Amino acid sequence: MYIKSPLNYTGGKYKILKPIFEQFPDRIGTFVDLFAGGFNVGINVEADRIICNDQISFIIELYQMFQDTEIDVLLQRIRGLIDRYQLSQQNQEGYLNLRSDYNETKDLTELFVLGCYAFNHQMRFNNSHEFNSPFGRNRSSFNPNIEKNLIAFVNALKQKNIEFHNQDFTSMELAFLGPEDLVYCDPPYIISTGNYNDGNRGFKDWKDSEEQALLDLLDRLHQQGTRFALSNVFYHKGLSNELLIQWSEKYNIHYIDKQYSNCNYQFKERNAKTVEVLVINY
Ligand SMILES: C[S@@+](CC[C@H](N)C(=O)[O-])C[C@H]1O[C@@H](n2cnc3c(N)ncnc32)[C@H](O)[C@@H]1O
Repeated sequence: MYIKSPLNYTGGKYKILKPIFEQFPDRIGTFVDLFAGGFNVGINVEADRIICNDQISFIIELYQMFQDTEIDVLLQRIRGLIDRYQLSQQNQEGYLNLRSDYNETKDLTELFVLGCYAFNHQMRFNNSHEFNSPFGRNRSSFNPNIEKNLIAFVNALKQKNIEFHNQDFTSMELAFLGPEDLVYCDPPYIISTGNYNDGNRGFKDWKDSEEQALLDLLDRLHQQGTRFALSNVFYHKGLSNELLIQWSEKYNIHYIDKQYSNCNYQFKERNAKTVEVLVINY
């Protein structure tokens, strides 16, 4: 039973945690979730110390607020906002009022509640870092499932030894890590776009230079004797990531969908809608 992030995050790994965790080592000293996003992976890891990093400042601030706030107080604030703005799956005006207020106040509970009522629960920002997700009419709300996920997530944030960073992955200090540690990377996938890499979020885009910088970083971790695990896709909707496919040959490749494990290159390329992998160096 895994904890599901209360943020419905594009590219979230909740559904494939089992095959990912099967490849993780039994004992982990420091675990780094370098591209934490919804933090589905890091929140479920057992490690002495867990480092949660993402370049999106709002998400990291939200997790810090969750960690520092009593769950009852948090739920009370959420219900207070739902009451004040009369939020429902039909009340677009209430949603838009909250959205414009949030863009003034930058209040983190308001941000979370906005995400609950937004289209596909997405947290999107424009280049001025204003929240701009449209209303999720007839679909999105702070429902009992999100509430249950939020409570479990917040409890785990408090119980585990988790610290937060809000940095570009290239600026993270990782040279101190040793053989007991594990760096998990779930970057934007260069051949499939999510909302965090459409260049519209006011944050750094994911391009060939970032892809190469990440592969170089993983090589450096390998040389220093630190374990890493990289989630990515080799093929997606007729596209292939040749740079990644070639680079991965030096390491161990685990196909998330087991049917590809024994197949050749042409089979994968021709038959796959998406081939998801976990590349590990141990
Ligand atoms: C695929 S999502 C991670 C999803 C996460 N594993 C989950 O299960 O919820 C990728 C994340 O990388 C972050 N990101 C993109 N470029 C980054 C960069 N240069 N440095 C740090 N984080 C970055 C995005 O903000 C996004 O949250």
